[in-house]
Amino acid sequence: MSGRWKNDLKYSDVTPKADYLNRREIMAGLAGVGLATLAGPAVAEAFKPNTLEEITSYNNFYEFGTGKDDPAKHAHSLTTDPWSVQIDGLVENPGDYSLADVLDGMEIEERVYRFRCVEAWSMVVPWNGFELGDLLAKVGVKPEAKYVYFETLVRPEEMPGQRRAILDWPYREGLRLDEAMHPLTMIATGIYGETLPKQNGAPLRLVVPWKYGFKSIKSIVRISLMDKQPEATWNMQNAREYGFYSNVNPSVDHPRWSQATERRVGGGLFSKRVPTLMFNGYEEQVAGLYAGMDLSKLF
Ligand code: MTE
Repeated sequence: MSGRWKNDLKYSDVTPKADYLNRREIMAGLAGVGLATLAGPAVAEAFKPNTLEEITSYNNFYEFGTGKDDPAKHAHSLTTDPWSVQIDGLVENPGDYSLADVLDGMEIEERVYRFRCVEAWSMVVPWNGFELGDLLAKVGVKPEAKYVYFETLVRPEEMPGQRRAILDWPYREGLRLDEAMHPLTMIATGIYGETLPKQNGAPLRLVVPWKYGFKSIKSIVRISLMDKQPEATWNMQNAREYGFYSNVNPSVDHPRWSQATERRVGGGLFSKRVPTLMFNGYEEQVAGLYAGMDLSKLF
């Protein structure tokens, strides 16, 4: 790993510059899959951030229901202040951290990341947040730790979806420690410079841009360092369909969906399917984490 992730995509950049940077990046990514002949401006269009409206009205957050519009309808009932996160397991400084304690010393940055859901829709989101690695360094990871485990809040009074056993609550996720420490991995606290909307996982939500969206667990209340691979909700639910790694991989199909292409939310010109890139376009940054692994078995 070579230091902090250099983020050259910012929504606040003037549009032509942002388009230029986006286009340069995607042209490099597409060259390998023979799509470099796509019209330039069209390619730039594919990496323009989605609108706040799009990002906040088409969501998955089963604690508020299984429909894509349920989170926007129901998440307002969630109390996010006060908030605390239990950080425990193989850490030097375990404890119950208030939101302010979690944020203390963290460098909040803006990062525009591609987002790819397993159901083949995708977006581009301008997140605000900090590197998970910085938080882990702050609490001190013990040398025996190999994985990081996360849990979402359980509060059925405020989360109507939890009144039914749609999933085995709490929602759980896990990363290998090197994935968690990778500079691309962030904890989001906002979108477009605004406090994170509740339907997107306020006040703290994981973002791992090279993995399918379901790995980005929302409204986190527990972070635990472990020496064994932790439970992860969708893997527990259906291990044949959802592996622990869940890396975006166009050559490994989900049993019910091809993962070779995707459709942009709010697409316009891009409502047609476009090819999905290996590791969601972050191959250069993250492929090394998986060197020597058979990704068709460890999917
Ligand atoms: N986190 C919790 N706690 N509950 C959920 O149901 N859904 C996941 C992930 N995080 C989910 C969750 C799935 S399937 C996706 S695709 C993304 O959140 C969606 O994030 P978004 O609504 O911000 O686009």
